[in-house]
This record gives sequence, C-alpha cells and structure tokens, in this order.
Amino acid sequence: MANLFSLNDLTLTEITGILDRAEHIREMGESGWMPSNHTLVANLFFEPSTRTRFSFETAEKRLGYQILNFSSQSSSTQKGESLYDTVRTMEAIGAKAVVIRHKEEGFFRQLEGLDLQILNAGDGAGNHPTQALLDLLTIRQEFMMFRGLTVAIIGDLRYSRVARSDSEILTRLGCRVLLSGPEEWKNTDLPGKYVSVDEAVEAADVVIMLRIQHERHEQAMRMSREAYHNRYGLTKKRAGQMKQGSIIMHPGPVNRGVEMDSELVESPQSRYFKQIHNGVLVRMAALEWAIHPDSQAVHSSRVPESI
Ligand code: CP
Repeated sequence: MANLFSLNDLTLTEITGILDRAEHIREMGESGWMPSNHTLVANLFFEPSTRTRFSFETAEKRLGYQILNFSSQSSSTQKGESLYDTVRTMEAIGAKAVVIRHKEEGFFRQLEGLDLQILNAGDGAGNHPTQALLDLLTIRQEFMMFRGLTVAIIGDLRYSRVARSDSEILTRLGCRVLLSGPEEWKNTDLPGKYVSVDEAVEAADVVIMLRIQHERHEQAMRMSREAYHNRYGLTKKRAGQMKQGSIIMHPGPVNRGVEMDSELVESPQSRYFKQIHNGVLVRMAALEWAIHPDSQAVHSSRVPESI
C-alpha cells in the first residue's frame, strides 16, 4: 500500500497509471462503481472544502468503500486531541485509509509508520497532489501530451499549494511553466520563469488562475478587488489575447470578478467545471492506487514522456 503526500514521491509511470485509470473509470460509466467493497475510509477535513471533500466522498462511494466523515467542530480535537491521536484512533477503529486536509504544512510527516494509508487533501501552503492530478488529466484530455506545452500559473504563488504541486509536476513532465502575480506573493522556490501577466497569458496553452489565499495572509490585501482584477486577474481583454486553442483553468473556489472575469468562468475556453468533474475520477484512481496497489492504477500502457 502507498501514501499520497506529494506527486514528487510518485514515478511518472505511477502518475500515468492513475491518469489512465481515471480515464478508464470515465469510459466504464456507472458499471465502474464497486458497491461490494467493505474497505473503511475516513475523511478528516480540518480546513473548509467543497470540491475536494465531496469529490473524495463521491469517489469513495463509487468504489464501494464505507465512509467515516469527520467534522473537526464536533470532534474531540475540540477537547485538545492532537492530529496524531485522531488518526491513530481511526487506525484503531479499522480505517484502511484517511484523507486529510490540514492547515499545517507537512502534517503527514508525523503520521508516517501508522498502519493505514494517508492521502493528502491539502497541507497548508504545501501540496495538493490530487488537485494536481485532476489538473493533469484535464490538460491531457485537451492536448494529449505535456511536453512542450506552455502553462501560465498566475496569482497568489506564495500561499497556494496548487501552484507548488502544479508547477513541480508540469516541469517534470516537460512543460514550460510561466509564473506571474503580485511581487509580495512571489515564491522563488517554485520552478518556472517569472514574466508579466500579459506575457504569461499571451504565451500560454494553459492559463491557471489561482485563488487568493486570504486565510493564509498575515496582512490584509492592500489592493482593492477591482485593482487586483485589473493588474493581475484574467480580464476579458486579457483573455482576448490568449492563443487559439488555449484553455483557462482555476482550482476553485473562484472569486468571480477578482481572479477572473465572472463571464470567463463558464466561457468556451474555460475548463473550470471539467476540472471538478475530473476530480472524482482521479480520486477514485488515487484511492485505488493507495489502498490496492496491485490494481490497474499502477500499471500504465503509456511511456511516461507521452502522458
Ligand atoms: N480546489 C480545492 O481544493 O477546492 P476546495 O477547497 O473546495 O476543496
């Protein structure tokens, strides 16, 4: 069995296998659901979530897992129980895997060695591996490959775990990553070249706009929403400069009219809702990969460079 902390821990063959398995699940439709499975999986979300939480839960239901849903507000963490003791409790109850979102970057390091699989559903400003997987699937469905694509990642680069997970895996896969955003949110740890927003948007095959991570900022944003939109957002004017065939993505939740113009969210170029749909597929494949590594998820028919 395997943990999913960061895509850096997976080989390109394993990532390919998860993407291929997600596509296979899509092709199978409802016949791909497996309701006789009695594996117990717990979802521990210590930070708010809509997409990740409900797509993991949907994925678990489709795989036939028995689900323990946890609310930090009504759990014994309110009485001071630690994350370690909470997860140890899930292990004692018999959970085979836990899906965890937590504000602490690298929270999973304290849990290594426990007898259950851990899937990182977002650790502070660290990583968001299943978001990166669904972003990869969305890009691959569009362009069939990664090598040679130009991907622009724009916005709150310092506090976004999506920016880290996406920029690292896209670079590994041979994409040219362009980064842009306000100076105070620059993150020199990320692989990619810093350019202006206009340059990034005009050169990109894929434009990924990031949510502003207000909850992680030590100081309130100095700019107004309108000023941010005009300087760093995807305005309709900027979108008009995008290359033919290029697409717009956003991990969500989107602040309409700030990171991107509200009309662009559902425009023909946008893959915003496609990304959410793909989230269920990759989370089914990732859960299988983690809990049943001998399943098809780890075996890919494609060579990694072509994923
Ligand atoms: N993209 C993402 O993680 O969204 P949620 O916070 O709604 O899960």
